[in-house]
Amino acid sequence: MKPFRSPSESHPVHEKFAKAREELSSALIERDEEINLVLTALLANEHVLLVGPPGCGKSLLVDSLLSWVGGTKFTILLTKFTSVEEVMGPVSLAALKADKYLRVTTGKLPEADFAFIDEVLKGSSAILNCLLKILNERSFDAGDGIVKKVPLKLCLGASNEWPAPETSKELSALFDRFTLRKTVTPIRSQLGRQRLLWARDHVPKLSTTITPAEVEEARRTAATLPWSKDAKEALESILKELAREGIQPGDRRQFKTVGVVQAFAFLSGVDEVQPEHLEIAQCCLWDDPTEQPQKVAQVIARIANPTGMRVTQLLLEVESVLAATDVRNLADAAKSAAKLGEVERQLSSLSGNGRVDKARLYVREQLKKLKLASIEAV
Ligand SMILES: Nc1ncnc2c1ncn2[C@@H]1O[C@H](COP(=O)(O)OP(=O)(O)OP(=O)(O)O)[C@@H](O)[C@H]1O
Ligand SMILES: [Mg+2]
Repeated sequence: MKPFRSPSESHPVHEKFAKAREELSSALIERDEEINLVLTALLANEHVLLVGPPGCGKSLLVDSLLSWVGGTKFTILLTKFTSVEEVMGPVSLAALKADKYLRVTTGKLPEADFAFIDEVLKGSSAILNCLLKILNERSFDAGDGIVKKVPLKLCLGASNEWPAPETSKELSALFDRFTLRKTVTPIRSQLGRQRLLWARDHVPKLSTTITPAEVEEARRTAATLPWSKDAKEALESILKELAREGIQPGDRRQFKTVGVVQAFAFLSGVDEVQPEHLEIAQCCLWDDPTEQPQKVAQVIARIANPTGMRVTQLLLEVESVLAATDVRNLADAAKSAAKLGEVERQLSSLSGNGRVDKARLYVREQLKKLKLASIEAV
């Protein structure tokens, strides 16, 4: 994989993305995948939906991202009582007097470059319909049959649950407008939990800002990144394999995935899309949130073998080993230590990137702690 010859020369804006990624990642605990997701979405000009239980850091991530980007922002928490006026702007009384029906959109979604819509699936059907048009066509009905373009680059949606299978047509359509969708899980590791508890400030400190024009420049560059032959073949094989498993994301979703993967490759600082960048496609290539995301992840890991997914799997294994270990039982502790040692060896065999190194260090530390704890216990 070739890195940009000189990212700071040929893509100065890439540097800003890299810095933001690093700074977000060092403040937010276990949110690397979500950070990649929102930055990729920004680069790909696609919308993101984060679904997770209350308090797992969705708003903290989104608010941090919105504080990084310049431009006009719109944030709202939807309930079934939220009115269309609160999202689209009130109807102009002055215009009404002149027998016209127009909305005053100042400060509302139609004028936003970036939007955060919390509980986005909870809106009334009238709101869902407005959102559908804005998110997909990037235009809205300004009144009196006038269709106006909106500047919206990215809509970040959050929700505490996935839509139910027997959901309304509008809701399914809106759900489909979010090209990138991910479950956000609570912090898993012990170290992560200690950081959550004992660091009293988790708000990322971002040393740069980025303008909508710079985001657009980055988007254009990312969209020109070529695909390696291997990556193209891997994507085609993944789609075939998914179809065999009964997972057939729509044509629009498949088409958009190409741009998303390119954006992720750009974020990773390379000048050609490689199979490993297909990792991000696990958030795109499915329709039903119940079982499909996991199957898609497995198929992508098997065919494209992305390091990131392997690291996540191995770290999950470490957490389940640690959770099940009784350090007072010597045989049990020894068995767990052997398992952690094996994970460490597997991590060592992965080609190095920042995440692999971090994971390896983490496993080594846990192994040391486990041994100490079991010595102390006897
Ligand atoms: N992964 C994390 N890293 C750092 N801080 C976290 C993390 N998860 C939760 N927190 C802490 O918990 C607080 C609450 O998180 P936040 O409000 O972002 O949750 P949320 O997912 O938006 O919840 P809700 O669904 O109720 O809106 C954060 O401000 C932060 O202090
Ligand atoms: Mg929130």
